[in-house]
Amino acid sequence: MRLFLDTADIDEIREINRWGVLSGVTTNPTLVAKEGEDPEAVWKEILAEVPGDISLETTEPETDAMYEEGLRLAQMAPNAVVKVPMTPDGLACGKRLVAEGIRINVTLVFSPAQAILAAEVGAYIVSPFLGRIDDVASDGMHALRQICDIYRVQKYETNVLAASLRHPMHIVESALAGADIATMPFDVFAKLVKHPLTDIGLERFLADWEKLNDQLKGEA
Ligand code: G3P
Repeated sequence: MRLFLDTADIDEIREINRWGVLSGVTTNPTLVAKEGEDPEAVWKEILAEVPGDISLETTEPETDAMYEEGLRLAQMAPNAVVKVPMTPDGLACGKRLVAEGIRINVTLVFSPAQAILAAEVGAYIVSPFLGRIDDVASDGMHALRQICDIYRVQKYETNVLAASLRHPMHIVESALAGADIATMPFDVFAKLVKHPLTDIGLERFLADWEKLNDQLKGEA
């Protein structure tokens, strides 16, 4: 399962990229707005920083305008993936972009039925929002498992991207369900690497190493 960052903050992207585990970035209008800068400049910096898939989201609600916007976003770099919403206009626009050889990410997906539609228009990625499903007292992980099962049975090639992930177990369970990609905010990514026994173990190794060095110095 590939790991993506869900952010438009270049410092966060640089930090996780440094670890060697970052395969892509997902952005959305809310995340780009948080940066308070020209969106094109923000996207360009991210596209140049990470060689993997970078999702850039359309904001035009109607098919024709969304299509023109999608073409512009796709032209920004070869690693750009165009995000379209799960609406009739988004699907119609997505279908046209796919016909042009552009990779699309169908976003704001909350049900297996919607995920079937995304696959049928030939999406490169489908993005079910697990955390937001949980927020309305439903089961986001159950929806993800159903989507992965359907895609397996139907042999759909669309990549399932688990989105709106809120804690490390979301990532572990998404991997078990067979998701192709998991995208998460910086704080969740940072939690993946942490374990108290790693910290305690490292502290002890370093203390013992220092003790040996002091001992050898004393003998010299
Ligand atoms: O970028 C899409 C999705 O991951 C948003 O997550 O936390 O705003 O529900 P969240």
